[in-house]
Amino acid sequence: MADIQTSASDKKEKEYFLDTPQAAPGFFLKGAHQYDWGLKNRLSRVFNPKDGRTVMLAFDHGYFQGPTTGLERVDQTILPLEPYADCLMLTRGIQRSVIPASTTKAIALRASGGTSMISPMEEWEGDVEGKKIKLQRPNFEPLSNESTALTIEEAIRLNASVLAVQVFIGGAYERQTLKNLTDLVDAASRYGIGVMGVTAVGRAMARTAQYFRLATRIMAELGANVVKCYYTDEDFDTITSCCPVPIVIAGGKKLPELDALKMCYNAIQQGASGVDMGRNIFQSDAPVAMMQAVQGVVHGGLSPAQGYELYSELKGQGVK
Ligand code: 5RP
Repeated sequence: MADIQTSASDKKEKEYFLDTPQAAPGFFLKGAHQYDWGLKNRLSRVFNPKDGRTVMLAFDHGYFQGPTTGLERVDQTILPLEPYADCLMLTRGIQRSVIPASTTKAIALRASGGTSMISPMEEWEGDVEGKKIKLQRPNFEPLSNESTALTIEEAIRLNASVLAVQVFIGGAYERQTLKNLTDLVDAASRYGIGVMGVTAVGRAMARTAQYFRLATRIMAELGANVVKCYYTDEDFDTITSCCPVPIVIAGGKKLPELDALKMCYNAIQQGASGVDMGRNIFQSDAPVAMMQAVQGVVHGGLSPAQGYELYSELKGQGVK
């Protein structure tokens, strides 16, 4: 029986084979060596074949959050970042209305949706500077009530390399979101398009290595070609080691730039194949500088300190 309760730390070397990368004979990308030509080619647009890594720029937040801070005007804030991304993760609405069709960047197209931040709000008693006050927060249970949000013909028209689908393991609609994943895998694999399973997090879903091992492995077993999850300070290497396909990390809430670069660096060192990052780039004081620093850490062999130096230097030169 699967050991959801078992801690990784006591059996890391023995069972996770952390020093032995999974073989992918004849192809550069984990788990992809037996795919068909078209899918391999599309994944080679997302992941750079030279190092097997990617910097995906995520700005699909509006699909359930509306105009998120930093994304009020995607034409103004995101287009300047496009040259430095390997792949754009976005909704079809933004792709058609804002992104020039002349872009040569790979497209990770949001393919699930149907809920919003507003409808599922719930009240809770928060603690603000020692005082208990009534606040509102999203209720992640109804938020997990997603459907697939586009057809495979639409994905082909928009030249998607991968489709992104949110999966809520442990959420009220876990089964439905897994069905969304498998339906998209069935449709996308007919045409050599990839599917990226995106691990949703909510209150029922702890941001622990144990939770992400479970969620990422389930998505890979059910056919996801790429899996996205969050970085964990502990045992992140066990998540990447037991997931048979590439893992990219989300950035999460905005952090100080150096901390965000450390997170990218640590994730790569521990087996991530790249980042699929949004707020830590487009909410930075100098997003174009930050984007180049993330590129430097993921592809250029920079340490977090060197990445931060690059960020500061570019920012100092007026690069916004
Ligand atoms: C929305 C997503 C976002 O693309 C993802 O969270 C990445 O953005 P960030 O780095 O801002 O967390 O999948 O559900």
